[in-house]
Amino acid sequence: MQVLYRVTLFLRLILLFFQRNEDDNRSDNDQRIVGGEEAAIHNYPYQSYLVLYRGNETYQCGGSIISYFHILTAAHCLERIDYVIVRIGSNQAFEGGTTYRSSQLITHQDYNSRTFEADIAIIRVSRRMVLDGINSARISIPRQNYYPLNNTEMAISGWGATGEGEPTTTTMRATTVNVHSITYCQQRFGNTLVTNRSFCAGPLEGGRDTCQGDSGGPGKNVANNVQIGVVSNGFGCARPNSPGIYTNVGSFTNWIRVNTGGMVTFADPEDYENNIDYNIDSITTDKLK
Ligand SMILES: *[C@@H]1O[C@H](CO)[C@@H](O)[C@H](O)[C@H]1NC(C)=O
Ligand SMILES: *[C@@H]1O[C@H](CO)[C@@H](O)[C@H](O)[C@H]1NC(C)=O
Ligand SMILES: *[C@@H]1O[C@H](CO)[C@@H](O)[C@H](O)[C@H]1NC(C)=O
Ligand SMILES: *[C@@H]1O[C@H](CO)[C@@H](O)[C@H](O)[C@H]1NC(C)=O
Repeated sequence: MQVLYRVTLFLRLILLFFQRNEDDNRSDNDQRIVGGEEAAIHNYPYQSYLVLYRGNETYQCGGSIISYFHILTAAHCLERIDYVIVRIGSNQAFEGGTTYRSSQLITHQDYNSRTFEADIAIIRVSRRMVLDGINSARISIPRQNYYPLNNTEMAISGWGATGEGEPTTTTMRATTVNVHSITYCQQRFGNTLVTNRSFCAGPLEGGRDTCQGDSGGPGKNVANNVQIGVVSNGFGCARPNSPGIYTNVGSFTNWIRVNTGGMVTFADPEDYENNIDYNIDSITTDKLK
């Protein structure tokens, strides 16, 4: 099984080829994200585009604005990365909005690059981001130990590939996927890949999913605009019976709070009152602010 994972499990990170202007004329019938459509930044104002520098190589990931100084992303995006350039406020990968340079990269101490346990990280930028509240805004995060209910509708967005082996896009695309119960996800992927700190989402017939280049980007609960997932990995992209795997943000709320100095916005706990199907005994009752 380990070997199979190595061969068929792909991180949703991609080596970024330098911006190709010939792409600008590409026919638009092809899909981005998988099964999505072009999206305006004002509908996803928390989304950011990341260029990751490792020596003379660059990689692409997504991220989300969680405070004036912090971007949430996946730990695997930051492996051996020297620094990051963050673009916010634009649905174009290479233009518009504002760019910021990282001043600190914070990877979760439990991150395991073999199992993708704790695939979560925070980028601190070197100056306070200017957020206009329209094209750039913070997204709030769930309270500690929130785990999304079966069938929660989640919006996914990014500049990743349209399908396995397809190129990434210069215009952001988005779609929605349904979250599955942990029971299903663990039956499908085992309890190493899906722990109580991750979940899987995507239609069982395939066709809609995140893909290479979307890693680190946000999965937002459509019902209340809270970020519940971080794009992590999957077996290929959008294959039938193979939902994508996401880091469960609610498993890391306290860690995020500590590592941002508490500068993040927490969802109102009441938003979640009737939306918990997992380990309810361990849910903390303190109201996070
Ligand atoms: C894009 O298409 C337009 C019109 O079809 C053409 O004039 C232009 O040269 C093309 N640009 C590139 C970079 O191919
Ligand atoms: C990038 O760096 C590696 C290792 O330092 C080197 O072997 C390689 O030739 C470099 N590639 C380019 C295109 O500069
Ligand atoms: C999750 O929802 C699906 C679709 O409604 C249903 O078929 C499945 O039984 C549910 N799973 C659990 C564990 O509730
Ligand atoms: C998650 O699982 C671990 C180990 O299986 C357990 O120690 C922990 O309490 C669980 N956390 C939650 C929130 O259920």
